[in-house]
Amino acid sequence: MRSHYCTHLNESDLGREVTLCGWANSYRDHGGVIFIDLRDNTGLIQLVCDPKDSIDAHKIASSVRDEYVLKAIGTVRLRGEGLVNPKLKTGAIEVIVKELIIENASEPLPFVIADPNVGEEIRLKYRFLDLRNKKAYETFKLRSKAAVAARNALDELGFLEVETPILTKATPEGARDYLVPSRIYNGEFYALPQSPQLFKQLLMCSGFDRYFQIAKCFRDEDLRADRQPEFTQIDIEMSFCEQEDILNVAEKLLKSIFGACGHEIKTPFPRMSFKDAMELYGSDKPDLRYDLAMVEAADLFLDSSSEVFSSIAKDTKKNRIKALKVPKGDTFFSRKHLKELEDFVGKFGAKGLGYFQMKENGLKGPLLKFMSEKSINELIKRTNLEVDDIVFFGAGAKKTVLDYMGRLRIEVANRLNLANPDEFNFLWVLDFEMFEVEEGKVKAMHHPFTMPNNIDAKELEDITSIAHDVVLNGVELGGGSIRIHKKDVQEKVFNILGISKEEADDKFSFLLDALKYGAPPHGGIAIGFDRLMMLLSKSESIRDVIAFPKTQRAQCPLTQAPSAVSPEQLRELGIKIRDKKEK
Ligand code: AMO
Repeated sequence: MRSHYCTHLNESDLGREVTLCGWANSYRDHGGVIFIDLRDNTGLIQLVCDPKDSIDAHKIASSVRDEYVLKAIGTVRLRGEGLVNPKLKTGAIEVIVKELIIENASEPLPFVIADPNVGEEIRLKYRFLDLRNKKAYETFKLRSKAAVAARNALDELGFLEVETPILTKATPEGARDYLVPSRIYNGEFYALPQSPQLFKQLLMCSGFDRYFQIAKCFRDEDLRADRQPEFTQIDIEMSFCEQEDILNVAEKLLKSIFGACGHEIKTPFPRMSFKDAMELYGSDKPDLRYDLAMVEAADLFLDSSSEVFSSIAKDTKKNRIKALKVPKGDTFFSRKHLKELEDFVGKFGAKGLGYFQMKENGLKGPLLKFMSEKSINELIKRTNLEVDDIVFFGAGAKKTVLDYMGRLRIEVANRLNLANPDEFNFLWVLDFEMFEVEEGKVKAMHHPFTMPNNIDAKELEDITSIAHDVVLNGVELGGGSIRIHKKDVQEKVFNILGISKEEADDKFSFLLDALKYGAPPHGGIAIGFDRLMMLLSKSESIRDVIAFPKTQRAQCPLTQAPSAVSPEQLRELGIKIRDKKEK
């Protein structure tokens, strides 16, 4: 219908007759001449409807309101002296309209699209209007570019794109499954895939050698700013590879994606062991745009006059005492701020927050009285303490201390704006433990198909795995591993996880079968595509980079999903909804 997009016109088109299509972004009547800013997905151009040029077009223009859908035929001309709008790409020109067609009217919108103060619930209810926002369009343009770049890069590296099923069986990644009831087999359910993990391994058993997919995954888990129940992974698997090959492919892929989106990134990425990440930064996904590393301080409390501290210090297998120096922190944190930080760590299990402040006239702080002079001097040396610095202490059970000190590190960095928002800081985290114990239950730290290093070790915590996570600016961007390709090792892992032989046969017999018939060594990785786009587009929430996202309560305000279904549908599926009281 159109000859040009609005912002593709410029001064080289003066005098040209053009046909434009789009929406009335705004409308002004200046003493008989009507000005309409016409908007399409490229931007705006000014239409001028002057009765001198066309009485009909002017008449039609007088009935146009915001968001009407228009087709305009007219001639490009320069704007008059003093009327140039330098903020618009097409600000030097305008189109004199000779024919105007209203393709569709619009009721007044429920909210002003460009108003940043409109709540998310209403935006998501009318997401199709929200997406008229220029910024949203730019975000999805970038997302499309990134997806094309990923496909091209992987194609060049010899990867085959294969689609795997959505209606399938449980694929354990640590979350709850979304289930779909079967009409034909009442009482039986499909599970939506938490990831294509098992299928991609099967494709390796088929000899496909290199697979990829831009795959939808479904996980019923507690939502956060960087989590959605339905999300997308760039999922990769390769055969006859070592971990090094996977890291290499992932770096090439990320370099291509970032390059296509206008950002040069440096490879190879730095690497860190899981243990160092936890001990130094209290996180398996440390943001290294700022340093703020913790130092070990348990030995400095062995001779403490406080029974509490000295007994914590004695058992370094179970406990930790960590010191976190914040350079110049004492100039930023008032007494009130220190109390806020103490309350903050309190939410994550800290019983208090000790600190030292390095003043002009020496060291101050509530913990001083518990430490010997020798230990104080050693701490000053160890943390390189200078005037105006502050050191925070965490003491207690290892897991709790590392967790709340890691969170404190991020909180402090946020308050002091330590992270450069324009930096992309990548990190590989390697050498994970294979298992972790949560609430007395043994769980796989990655997933049960990850290759362990030393499966027969006596202590669970000595079993490590050949797994890798890629971290960007403190966000876990992707994860993967070398997989188990031998049936007996897989069975041992199931056994440690408390999965009985019967359960393993019921859930994973197809995998165990595949491992029997010549499974090659293989491994892979999956990059969270939504998280990647959130970071690339500097969006605040993962929802900004998903066209039709769910809320934090896993609902879609637009379609009202999830919603009740008819009694007939339920009957067909053999489902009876229990009374709420029965639950
Ligand atoms: P993992 O579970 O680590 O690994 O997931 C890989 C990446 O997917 C992203 N991700 C999510 N993004 C948005 N919302 C969610 N709820 C969500 N959950 C995960 C993260 C994460 O790093 N099968 C393995 C991969 C493999 O071993 O190859 C897997 O799924 O960015």
